[in-house]
Amino acid sequence: MKRIAVLTSGGDAPGMNAAIRATVRVAFSLGIETYGIRYGYNGLIKGDFIPLDRRSVTGIAQQGGTILKTARSQEFMTENGKAKAIANLKAHSIDGLMVLGGDGTFKGAKELTDLNVPTVGVPCTIDNDLAYTDFSIGFDTAINTVVSAVRKIRDTLDSHGRIGVIEVMGNHCGDIALFSAVGCGAESVIIPEFPWDIEDIARRFIHRREAGVESGIVLVSEGAAKADDVATKLRELTNFDIRSTVLGHVQRGGDPTVTDATLAARFAGHAVGLLKADKGGYVVGIVNNRIREFEINEALAKKKHLHRNLYKLAYDLVY
Ligand code: F6P
Repeated sequence: MKRIAVLTSGGDAPGMNAAIRATVRVAFSLGIETYGIRYGYNGLIKGDFIPLDRRSVTGIAQQGGTILKTARSQEFMTENGKAKAIANLKAHSIDGLMVLGGDGTFKGAKELTDLNVPTVGVPCTIDNDLAYTDFSIGFDTAINTVVSAVRKIRDTLDSHGRIGVIEVMGNHCGDIALFSAVGCGAESVIIPEFPWDIEDIARRFIHRREAGVESGIVLVSEGAAKADDVATKLRELTNFDIRSTVLGHVQRGGDPTVTDATLAARFAGHAVGLLKADKGGYVVGIVNNRIREFEINEALAKKKHLHRNLYKLAYDLVY
């Protein structure tokens, strides 16, 4: 393999740039040139290719976002879109492709591999919703952002004796809410994976008030409920002073943590090695702190592990 290309697709994730940098530099060390494709699969269809040399990625490892821009492409789903993509890859003499993103991005990788373009996926999503890997790039940064925001909100809740209901991202996966809840000591956590009962949550806050504790936090995963709805119901049941906050896209931005930046380098290095060996149709992941590859369909068919112990711990930690 003489020349590969890399693109970022779907929602951006902190650490994507660190993965791009590692791709370019590891590929160079193996005698492979790298092109970047801007705006994900849309750029592949439009032919938006740029050469990436070692110097072009200097200083990006600690930057959030993606220097290659990203998009969610509808056109790539069509036969015509795929035909244009293949033609552009041929025109630029690209022998293999690396795609950084989540499950939608990986489906595209499988299709391209089936069309004779060896393609490898690197998991980048703050949601941590890919079952085959313990962690995806961006998740650690996102939970650090959540914990830091919750600490600030807690200061003002404590001052006023209020309850704060804070909604976090995650799509249909509760990992951002759950790991952050344990990390910041939230008094309640609501996630889509486990049943929850607003009356039970209200009872806990009433008991705490009887014990002299006025303020507290409910972390809500966006896939389970809306912060405003939870706040309204909790207000009715407890008569507490309650404020709700939707943290939003602050969770997707910012410099990657060292954990995400190093994970990105490890994933990208492994993925370039797969391409060098002509192994398309794989995604890389981390299981028990070991970097591994998985066949794409096998990876996407896996069912996400339920963090029962962590969920129990989140409540055991509350006093
Ligand atoms: O998948 C990442 C994510 O940030 C989800 O947590 C969230 O539901 C969604 O993307 C938001 O997408 P957009 O940026 O298109 O509003």
